[in-house]
Amino acid sequence: MTRKDFIAGNWKMHATHLEAIQMVQKLGYRLEEADYDRVDVVVCPPFTALRSVQTVIEADYLPIQLGAQNVHFEEKGAYTGEISPGMLAKLGVGYVIVGHSERRHVFGEDDATVAKKLRAVLAAGMTPILAVGETLEEREADATEDVIGRQLDAGLRGLDTDVVAGLVVAYEPVWAIGTGRTATNEQAAEAIGFLRERIRASFGDAADATRILYGGSVNPGNIAGLMAKRDIDGALVGGASLDPDSFASIVRYWV
Ligand code: PGA
Repeated sequence: MTRKDFIAGNWKMHATHLEAIQMVQKLGYRLEEADYDRVDVVVCPPFTALRSVQTVIEADYLPIQLGAQNVHFEEKGAYTGEISPGMLAKLGVGYVIVGHSERRHVFGEDDATVAKKLRAVLAAGMTPILAVGETLEEREADATEDVIGRQLDAGLRGLDTDVVAGLVVAYEPVWAIGTGRTATNEQAAEAIGFLRERIRASFGDAADATRILYGGSVNPGNIAGLMAKRDIDGALVGGASLDPDSFASIVRYWV
């Protein structure tokens, strides 16, 4: 079973729509056809830049795919300030991050909310990127597998196996996000191997198709070591995705 590499840039709350246009254009200049054959390349700009980035991607025929960082689980209604799955799908968004640690820890999203969002993304025909990860205290208390296992189960419970096969999961230890402190290749591979076996326990061979990424202080210097691990299928990149040069070198990790 071969899983295509998957590298996504999570721009978080950075870039106006004008800056975003420049970022995606620069990224487009730096990547070649063969790169996209090998890697699914995704950028997740803020909501206010999605339309602009989509326009550049279409006008320049860039094989860069569009992702969103968050979504509401309802399709429409009195939810001031929220964005629905249908609104994103109409903009050409293919992927939506659900359960990012900043959503869980800064905005208080629990497993049940994340699960509702994941299902709403699927219902709108997009692919969820389900993010899971333990805090430093949880790791030090030897609770990593309990925490990420629980987050994974809550997200995937009751889904069809073919749906699970198409999902993207991101293991992002909270202590490694934005800290410059990457998990070692072994720590990342161990947690991701655990997640894959956990998927296998409920969904069988679908586990061999689900792409599982690592995220947390990924940069051009550490990506190749992570990608050399059999179970690591790609990366969810925050800070280093804001610079098109560094993001392009991450995408071209084998160069
Ligand atoms: P980072 O963020 O690469 O800046 O650590 C990763 C993420 O939050 O997805």
